[in-house]
Amino acid sequence: MPKTVLVTGGAGYIGSHCCKALAEAGCTPVTFDNLSRGHADAVKWGPLVRGDLRDRAAVLAALRAHRAEAVIHFAALAYVGESVTDPQAYYDNNLGGMIGLLGAMQAAGLTQIVFSSSCATYGTPDRLPISEDMPQAPINPYGRTKLVCEWMLRDAGVAWGLRHVALRYFNAAGADPAGEAGERHDPETHLLPLALLAASGKGGPLRIFGTDYPTPDGTCIRDYIHVTDLARAHVQALAYLAEAGESVALNLGTGQGASVREVVAMIERVTGRAVPVLEEPRRPGDPAALYAEIARAGAVLGFRPEFGLERIVADAAPWFGHGDIKAGP
Ligand code: UFG
Repeated sequence: MPKTVLVTGGAGYIGSHCCKALAEAGCTPVTFDNLSRGHADAVKWGPLVRGDLRDRAAVLAALRAHRAEAVIHFAALAYVGESVTDPQAYYDNNLGGMIGLLGAMQAAGLTQIVFSSSCATYGTPDRLPISEDMPQAPINPYGRTKLVCEWMLRDAGVAWGLRHVALRYFNAAGADPAGEAGERHDPETHLLPLALLAASGKGGPLRIFGTDYPTPDGTCIRDYIHVTDLARAHVQALAYLAEAGESVALNLGTGQGASVREVVAMIERVTGRAVPVLEEPRRPGDPAALYAEIARAGAVLGFRPEFGLERIVADAAPWFGHGDIKAGP
C-alpha cells in the first residue's frame, strides 16, 4: 500500500468517506480540492490543499510537496440534470481536470490512479444486470465526460505506462456508520436525502418521478450502495495497483435493485415516519432500471458489499432531519 495518496475531491461526499478508510488502512490522504462543491470541514483525515486540477503546476507541486505515491481522482461535477443545461461546465471541469491531473502525474513519475467513474457511462442498457463488457453509450453530458476520462486513462496507459482502476459506481448512498462523514449536496437532488427530509417534515413532499415505468411497481429501480462499502473498494483498488495489477474497469454496486417505492417503504420502516409523496411525470433521462453485475470487483479486488438498504437508510437518517435515529452498528 502507498503511504501517501493524493485524493482529488477529498472534501466531497464519497471522497471524504474514502479519506477515512485510507487513514484507517494506515495511509495519509492528501486532499486536493477547489471547494467548489466540497466542504473544508469534511477534510479530517489528512491535509487539505486548496487548488484546481486544471492548474497542472499546482497539482504537480502538491504531489511533490507531499511525496504522493498514487492518486484517487474523485473531483468532478456530478449532477446529471445540470450537465444537460450547462454541458460546457462539465467538459471544462471534468475533462480539463483530468488533463491537468494526468500531466502532473506524468511529470512526477506517478503511474497508479483509481478513478471515480459511473454507471452513467452505460446509458440505457439493453439487459440487466449490467456487466463491465456491455456497451458504454452514455445518454447525458455527465456520463460522456466520465467515459472520455476512461479513454484518457487507457491512452495514457499505452503512451506512458499509467495503470488505473476505473470504478463505475451505481447509486452511492448512506453515511459513515460512526457519524464522522456524511452527505451534503447543495442543491440536494438525490432520492434518499430528499425522501428522508420529506419524512422529517423539513422538506416538501417527495416527488416520485414516474410511476408508469415497466417495473413491478411502476417506479425506477436503482442499485444503492453504502458509501462506506464504496470507500473500502478504493483502498482495495490501491492495494491492487501497488501489487502490479493491470488496468481494469469495475462495477461497484450491490447487485440488488430497489425501486423508488421500496426505498420509501424502507425509510418509513426505519424512521417510523410517513414519507409524504406526490406522483409526478417521469424525469427526462432516467432509465427504468439499473443494477450491477459485481462478480468482477469480487474476483479482482475481493470486494463484497457489507451493507444493505436498511443500513444505508439508518446511517443517512441523522444527516437529513432524523437526529433521533441511532446510526452505527
Ligand atoms: N427520484 C425521485 N424523486 C426525487 C429524486 C429522485 O423519484 O426527488 C428517483 C429518480 O427518478 C431515480 C431514483 O429516484 O429513479 C434515483 O435518483 P437519484 O437522483 O438519487 O440518482 P440517479 O440514479 O439519477 O443518479 C445517480 C448518480 C449520478 C449517476 C447516475 C447514473 O447520482 O451521479 O446515478 O445513472 F450519474
